[in-house]
Amino acid sequence: MDDIKNLQKEILSQLENTQSLKEVLDLKQNYMSKKGPVSNLTNKLKDLPVEEKKVFGAALNTFKQELEEAFKKKITYFEELEINEKLKAEEIDISLPATKLTNGSPNILEKIIEEVESVFMSMGYDVVDGPEIEEDHYNFELLNIPKGHPARDAQDTFYIKNEDYLLRSQTSPVQARVMLASGGDKPIRMICPGKTYRRDADDATHSHQFMQIEGLLVDKNVSLSDLKGTFDVIAKKLFGEDIETRFRPSYYQFTEPSVETDISCFACKGKGCSLCKNTGWITVSGAGIVHPNVLRNCGYDPEIWTGFAFGFGAERLAMLKYGINDIRTFYQTDLREIDAFDRLED
Ligand code: DAH
Repeated sequence: MDDIKNLQKEILSQLENTQSLKEVLDLKQNYMSKKGPVSNLTNKLKDLPVEEKKVFGAALNTFKQELEEAFKKKITYFEELEINEKLKAEEIDISLPATKLTNGSPNILEKIIEEVESVFMSMGYDVVDGPEIEEDHYNFELLNIPKGHPARDAQDTFYIKNEDYLLRSQTSPVQARVMLASGGDKPIRMICPGKTYRRDADDATHSHQFMQIEGLLVDKNVSLSDLKGTFDVIAKKLFGEDIETRFRPSYYQFTEPSVETDISCFACKGKGCSLCKNTGWITVSGAGIVHPNVLRNCGYDPEIWTGFAFGFGAERLAMLKYGINDIRTFYQTDLREIDAFDRLED
């Protein structure tokens, strides 16, 4: 019985001093394997007289159970310790500010064009493309602006080589291209966003390269009120449902009558402020009823067909919508500006 007690003491005190799971398992292996001291005690059992065997056997069993318990407890203790240490090491400090990833985002000019496209597409318009290097024929002549006409002076054009080729000064030549391609016998609804070029000195409101969104509708019995209704829809979608619209008489060579289209100032709600120069109105596009000469030049019989056309300045729309006061912002690669556009998203 003393042997049991001594061995128990010995094992438990060693167990007490273990520092790791491995030490516990090694200890268990040393003492409790088949040839270890615990088994040696068990082997002694068979040499004892029957009475002693009973007492010693029972004591041995209790001893073994207690040992198992003690080892189990210690093993669990170290296993939990290990898990807790692991959890602690992998702990995420959610209060730590995250590293800001500089994601790309769509250019806001591109975004406003896509917005305009989606409104017009919802009204059955196609989005088309045209060449940026254009022929004088499409850019001017088919649009009722013959060579030598003073209306050309308003558009300081970049000519290429000779006077027949140019960088398009407007997206309006795409009207002519689409009408000619349609063969003069089909209705048309199209818009064309794209780059345009003029020999302007760059300043806050001028850029030698800028973007327009051209629009053309050709059908039968089209009137100015159809244009007004269409413009009203787009103005409200872009600038808010409470926006009002108005037309002012204007002059373009390719439309008759021609208008400037205004929206009520969204900043002051029409009361008058610096954005609308105290008029309560902001001009956003030129437009009008397609001139009969243009229809005829492009293969449509003006006795049968009528249409309206319009041209938005894309930068102007974006500048108004996002409160940008310098057109050059769109064409400089200042990441701080772009970052500010990013934040407009949030
Ligand atoms: N092309 C004109 C410009 O660049 C804008 C414009 C006005 C386009 C009236 C049109 C229109 O289609 O009908 O100033």
